[in-house]
Amino acid sequence: VFFAVIMAGGTGQRFWPLSRRDRPKQFLSLVGERTMLQLTFDRLAGLVPPERVLVITGAGYVDTVREQLPELPPENIVAEPCGRDTAAAVGLGALHVLRKDPRGVMAVLPADHYIAHVRRFQQVLQAGVSLAADGRWLVTMGITPTRPDTGYGYICQGELLAEGPEVPVYRVEKFLEKPALDRARQFLAEGRYLWNSGMFIWRADLIYRLIDENLPSLAAGLAEIGRAMGINAPGRDGEPAAAGEEGSPAFPETPPPADNRAAGNRTGAITGSKGSGVKTVQEAGAAVDFYNKVISRVYPELPKVSIDYGVMEKAANVLVLPGDFGWDDVGSWPALERCREAEENGNIIEARGVFLETRNSIIHAPGRLVATLGVEDLVVVDDGECLLVCHKDRAQELKRLT
Ligand code: GDD
Ligand code: MG
Repeated sequence: VFFAVIMAGGTGQRFWPLSRRDRPKQFLSLVGERTMLQLTFDRLAGLVPPERVLVITGAGYVDTVREQLPELPPENIVAEPCGRDTAAAVGLGALHVLRKDPRGVMAVLPADHYIAHVRRFQQVLQAGVSLAADGRWLVTMGITPTRPDTGYGYICQGELLAEGPEVPVYRVEKFLEKPALDRARQFLAEGRYLWNSGMFIWRADLIYRLIDENLPSLAAGLAEIGRAMGINAPGRDGEPAAAGEEGSPAFPETPPPADNRAAGNRTGAITGSKGSGVKTVQEAGAAVDFYNKVISRVYPELPKVSIDYGVMEKAANVLVLPGDFGWDDVGSWPALERCREAEENGNIIEARGVFLETRNSIIHAPGRLVATLGVEDLVVVDDGECLLVCHKDRAQELKRLT
């Protein structure tokens, strides 16, 4: 079975002032009514039922996720006590997938990207899931680069492995996360490099094993959390995980004995056995309390590294599929020009009002009445309380204000 694991724990200030009250990009409505997270969820409709969608997010954002995704079973929101970057978040997601299906495939999806062609996205995703199913490949989606952006990972595209019925499959020769500008320029000129879209498809047991190989201290912490969930995560020997049957209770009836813990065990291999099932509500409550206790203690100590640096740069057996579905990671206010159709003067307007001789501007003030006259290349954002006026060319520098 395949699960969608939405990564929604990032923080960020590039959409200030909307992001002002701890509302990072994924929770904002930037390209329409629906928020970026909601759009990410909507894109899975017809392909993955809500029961198989997991959202990994910071504990402080759980209520926001619940509000924004009422269709998602609340237990599918996985809370991190604090942000430890994406390797930890992916590892935690993998544990939750393994618990449901030891051979489960997971599609890791950032919660804050824009995709224009949803049908095509689903086709490519489906192809990726098929490729990942045998547990050998890490599958990425590559985007044809248009500028030497240093904020992305770069994928060196290798030989064509299969034309595919609908999607060609290439081997990845090299994966380089966030290169320096001169290298990014070189990659662009060479024409063999793609941007990493940040979406990945792999078997949960495979990524868990690669975390164990490349980030042993992360794996050791995850293993401890896994034991508190009552699962056997796969270790270095490649043994598949053991997990409860689908629909079985989430947690073991009793905490695992102390000698089951990772003490002295550098690798993430887990030796404990799973619990025999929850019998009573009190026991289930105790198991959840135990899990919460373990994760609050272990998670803050996990190494803070992204999956790109931590695993992808070191991995072999990586494939890339063309991400030819109108992808954009909407990095700043001006990026909206690539995701929304401008009106005839080149403006992107989310506000009511009068805009005379106003050109190539971004005006985002839903619910406000706005009037502009004789201006161009401006970003104007009003969240009802706080107003930003800034030149479009300076929108990358909003950090200076916050
Ligand atoms: N749950 C959780 N916890 N999610 C997180 C955390 C965390 O600690 N940190 C980041 N995320 C989420 C973000 O919300 C986002 O959806 C996704 O994970 C990627 O994190 P970013 O912080 O936005 O990564 P990036 O933009 O620097 O780089 C990644 O994305 C690029 C494409 O947008 C890399 O994968 C690059 O290689 C890639 O090109
Ligand atoms: Mg990003």
